[in-house]
Amino acid sequence: MKTRVYRITDASAADARKMLDECAQILKDGGLVAFPTETVYGLGALAKDSRAVNSIFHAKGRPQDNPLIVHITGIDDLPGLVSEIPPAATVLAARFWPGPLTLVMKAGHAVAKQVSAGLNTVGVRVPDHPVALELIRRAGPLAAPSANVSGRPSPTTAQHVLADLDGRIHAVVDAGPTGVGLESTVLDISSDTPVILRPGGVTLESLSEVLPGVSSWTGHVERPRSPGQKYMHYAPRAKMLLVKGDDPSRIAHRVGALTERLLTQGKRVGVLATAENAALFSAVFSESVESGRLVVLVAGSRDRADEIASGLFSRLREFDALGVDTIIAEGVNQTDIGVAIMDRLERAATTVIDANKPALRVLFVCTGNTCRSPMAEALFRKMAESRGLNIEFISAGTGATKGEPAAEHARQVARERGASLDGHQSQPLTTEIVRDADLILTMTRSHSQEVLHRFPDASGKVHTLAEHTGEAGLDVDDPIGCGLDTYRLTADQLEAMAHVFFRRLKEKGVPGANETTD
Ligand code: TXA
Ligand code: MG
Repeated sequence: MKTRVYRITDASAADARKMLDECAQILKDGGLVAFPTETVYGLGALAKDSRAVNSIFHAKGRPQDNPLIVHITGIDDLPGLVSEIPPAATVLAARFWPGPLTLVMKAGHAVAKQVSAGLNTVGVRVPDHPVALELIRRAGPLAAPSANVSGRPSPTTAQHVLADLDGRIHAVVDAGPTGVGLESTVLDISSDTPVILRPGGVTLESLSEVLPGVSSWTGHVERPRSPGQKYMHYAPRAKMLLVKGDDPSRIAHRVGALTERLLTQGKRVGVLATAENAALFSAVFSESVESGRLVVLVAGSRDRADEIASGLFSRLREFDALGVDTIIAEGVNQTDIGVAIMDRLERAATTVIDANKPALRVLFVCTGNTCRSPMAEALFRKMAESRGLNIEFISAGTGATKGEPAAEHARQVARERGASLDGHQSQPLTTEIVRDADLILTMTRSHSQEVLHRFPDASGKVHTLAEHTGEAGLDVDDPIGCGLDTYRLTADQLEAMAHVFFRRLKEKGVPGANETTD
């Protein structure tokens, strides 16, 4: 099949009217026509034509149980498409149509049953785009999902549509890039409790103004009210790490650390940055940018979520065209359309990283938690800080009592090396401490055996320090009761192990946190 491209700049111009007539005819003949809306490009078929609707699923590779949205010109088109018009629909339509709000209602007889994909409801909306409205006016209500191959980022230009569907659909109407850039909000008003099934262009805040009691769907992802929400979505071909959090500088720091590590591993990296941080990344990694190992794309200003939304899918597709291995995306604030941005980014991401949490939580274990493990904690922490690494070190003892200070010699040796154990209080191992640790490093094999015996779930993250830092040698013996020089030898041993630990971290990435592994 050859996909025809119709270019329209002004929907009311004479040549445009002729093209729209042609497109309407293709639709009436059972064909598929992609068209622009204010959100993303849709792939349209007549909503009443079962065969045409079926071919949408085929062209997109869309799962059969994922229902389609019907596009209409106004609330007057509703009778027949839905079996009853709830009072909320009238209020919401008056306020938000035309616009990026899909209302899910009880399905009527005038929609092909494939549109509802097995549900007894149908989603309907009025797109705020002259080309879409003119096309629907000529052809009738159009069932239209986003015009991408299932799972890929939604198309915001006709070129995106062609990149996915050229040769698989009859025509695309090219009217330039869409405005909103993210899909409509899907709101279920088919029962007494209105629920947002998919966040989008119309925010929860603005819906609440006219629809008290509206809430966001927070149910189980495996059993969504909106079938579309259970599928992997919007995904670029590259792996994608999303760094979220409420502090932009922490986000920037973590994105920088991840970028550095991936570049060291020889990966081609793409960073989706806010305008505020993009220049920083490009400056810090200027060599990698010049050699093409790193591409930094600007998503938009952190203060302009609408700008970020409008270019988001386009940027994801750009990274794919550039052939990067891994994309690292900065998260944005979850206000207004930021909620929808984060929804799409989280669905596209292979890993979500919380910048507020440490990259790694390491637990050192000895017996009394007054000598070896507190010294390890203090010495490793000092080295991590001097390297700017966000790692949390804690310690506990297999036979520790609560609240003992560190041994006098241990405190002195720590002080000599610029670390401090003055505030240390011993603690016993607990289920929580063990559970929350990413990595548990013990002083001797018998400590490891005891941890595993008491906490079998921890297997896989328990190692002796000697095992973990292979070349650095032997078990760390207990200096308790010995002189200051023995404590100094213990500290030497721990520092040598720490050097290996940090060198490996740099080479191989964070163990256990598997942020950057394949
Ligand atoms: O902005 C948009 O909504 C775009 C443009 C083209 O209008 N369309 C769009 O359609 O994003 P699509 O098919 O890619 O996403 C429709 C979403 C899916 O998550 C689907 O599961 C949900 O809406 N949906 C549709 N009908 C539904 C229904 N009856 N009940 C629950 N969810 C429904
Ligand atoms: Mg879609």
